[in-house]
Amino acid sequence: MRDAITRLNAALEGRYPVERELGESGMATVYRPDDQRHECKVGRKLLLAVAVALNASCGPAPPAQANASTLSRQQMDFERARHQMVEEQIEARGVTDPRVLEAMQRVPRHEYVPAEYQARAYSDRPLPIGLDQTISQPYIVALMTELLQPEPDDRLLEIGTGSGYQAAVAAELVSEVYSIEIIPELARSAAERLERLGVSNVFVRAGDGYLGWPEQSPFDGILVTAGAEHIPEPLVEQLKPGARMIIPVGDLSSFQILKVVEKLPGGEVEIRDIIPVRFVPLRRNEQD
Ligand SMILES: C[S@@+](CC[C@H](N)C(=O)[O-])C[C@H]1O[C@@H](n2cnc3c(N)ncnc32)[C@H](O)[C@@H]1O
Repeated sequence: MRDAITRLNAALEGRYPVERELGESGMATVYRPDDQRHECKVGRKLLLAVAVALNASCGPAPPAQANASTLSRQQMDFERARHQMVEEQIEARGVTDPRVLEAMQRVPRHEYVPAEYQARAYSDRPLPIGLDQTISQPYIVALMTELLQPEPDDRLLEIGTGSGYQAAVAAELVSEVYSIEIIPELARSAAERLERLGVSNVFVRAGDGYLGWPEQSPFDGILVTAGAEHIPEPLVEQLKPGARMIIPVGDLSSFQILKVVEKLPGGEVEIRDIIPVRFVPLRRNEQD
């Protein structure tokens, strides 16, 4: 599989963005220009349908009404796509926690992707969010959230805010999420987005998440959404006894293993492997 991915990367290098996360299938995701063309066609069909509906009514509709109906139709399409995403990509692969499934149904993923990717927001893949980073595949977000076993009073730490989507999903299930992003522009835009969307229990900070957030520790759970070469010791220290960290660990040039790191009540650590994944690397900030 490694050879196949290397070949794929080489073949597509410089032409298409090649995604860096592998789902359960272990397949790399590639964006093809024809996907874009397909979306343009769908977009045109939608516009045509709206135009036909307007022509069939008695006289021209006021622009405000046309916008409102196009908007609500789009919202309904997104909701339907989200429902299908939960059923076909997440439940079908064995995520069963009803609270996690409901959170995935509620959080509008299309609000967390750049405008040019909105039509693909509910597809079974990670998507680019700029600055060479990605929003994770929906299934991986759901799986990591379920593995964390979140409780309503929990305070969580997330490393790798990215778009803010994973934090928003987790925030549906716990009392507070502290999220660290190493790229200041992404930290800023995620914080603004979360505020605009009314998510008030996520706190975003720019910095090197390898070091955790000692002032807010200990945490009831930690989600690391970038691939690490090893399990960061500061993060283990910031876990409460009995709490879990979900983290992809392994060779950053190929793929990692999603691991559950559990700090037992006595302080010992138990590690369990879940599935192979491929994340963008957990970087280090030289100044920190
Ligand atoms: C796969 S993306 C995360 C997706 C994100 N959770 C979301 O829902 O959109 C990984 C993110 O981790 C960030 N990152 C990498 N190393 C980091 C570090 N040491 N500390 C904090 N963030 C880091 C990257 O900049 C990137 O935004």
